[in-house]
Amino acid sequence: MKNYLLILVGAASISSCNSGNTSSDNSMEWLDNAIELSAVQLQEASERYDSTMLFPRSLKTDYSLEQLTAQMEIPVDSFKPEIELLKHPTAEEYRQPYLVGYADWTSGFFPGSLWYAYELTGDETLKEAAVRYTNRLVKVADMTDTHDLGFMVNCSYGNAYRLAPNDTIRELVVKTARNLAGRYDQSIGCIRSWDFGPWNYPVIIDNMMNLDLLFNAAKLTGDSTFAEIARRHADTTMSNHFRDDFSCYHVVSYNDDGSRQRRQTFQGKADESSWSRGQGWALYGYTETYRNTGDKRYLRHAEKVADMIIARNNTEDGIPYWDLDAPESDSTPRDASAAAVIASGMIELSEISEEGEKYLEYAEKLLKALASPEYLAERGSNGGFILRHSTGSLPHGSEIDTPLNYADYYFLEALVRYKRVKAGKRAVEPMF
Ligand code: GLY
Repeated sequence: MKNYLLILVGAASISSCNSGNTSSDNSMEWLDNAIELSAVQLQEASERYDSTMLFPRSLKTDYSLEQLTAQMEIPVDSFKPEIELLKHPTAEEYRQPYLVGYADWTSGFFPGSLWYAYELTGDETLKEAAVRYTNRLVKVADMTDTHDLGFMVNCSYGNAYRLAPNDTIRELVVKTARNLAGRYDQSIGCIRSWDFGPWNYPVIIDNMMNLDLLFNAAKLTGDSTFAEIARRHADTTMSNHFRDDFSCYHVVSYNDDGSRQRRQTFQGKADESSWSRGQGWALYGYTETYRNTGDKRYLRHAEKVADMIIARNNTEDGIPYWDLDAPESDSTPRDASAAAVIASGMIELSEISEEGEKYLEYAEKLLKALASPEYLAERGSNGGFILRHSTGSLPHGSEIDTPLNYADYYFLEALVRYKRVKAGKRAVEPMF
């Protein structure tokens, strides 16, 4: 196998990108505090988990059937999950780190967070950790059995290339993109998401997040096929995943002729509910697709999704419940990861939309809430994660009210984007 190692020698260092506001500006204290805390947490986590050769994903949680069904507002005895529920952790495992290998869909987020923390602070030890953890993902380029390749490779190697360019990364990105494109079916017009479960051809809204990898490969190779596949996937998803109010289904399964087999949820409350993170993936995905194509249809769609989220997200601090239709109650778990994805997507949307100010204000509200003591970890706690109170998949009893590595990743990304916008720069610096 080709050895796609990221070499540090010759990689340009960045000095801290602390342009714009400084800590002497009191109104930005929340931002400086969040960056400082994030760097400390990530430094500690990178040391603590280094010898395992694994990636921190979350802290293990537990659940009861009564809790799950109360959240889904169904009788306990009618609950029939399509995939079996997570095993209960032992007392010793409870709140202990859940570590994963390179093949887990979340493997790119921890290295990506290290890159963003390096970008925000200029701290070379964070960069060294980022290089180390990124290099452990090299085998992702051989994977063909998942659509999550965009998450895994863009967040890690994509940011690595942006901050420490290296030719071998270009090759790895193109190879991985070929594997992602290999999951595309011409008669359906979509990339297949999952290879498990009872569906004929499942496509989940999350898949919009993987398209950027294809656009990057088109740029790197000049082969427009990558971009055509990405556009067709975005178009098919626009036609089939969305309801009239621009909320979306989580899963659409297709028949072989491209007609719809089923529309339903997997991680949300009900088939007709609006799973919060899924709405975030949609907003972010179409904003990004507009950036990659300049096609105004995607921009208009992103705006409609953003407006739907603003209208329907009903918590006071803006951090959504795990599902926008979850019971309104103090005991309903929040999803800080959804808030972070929405904030990051809305910051990009704010600079391309005619109604940009509205989106920037909303993103700022979310970021300030996430940076408050309610969500931001106390130094040295939280297993080295930055944010508390995210939810992975409540209907599976999985990762309920816990830190998640992708909440941290999109939070840091949003902070980078926010600082750039405030400093008069484009929110997003291209990876390639
Ligand atoms: N892509 C899986 C999730 O958002 O939980």
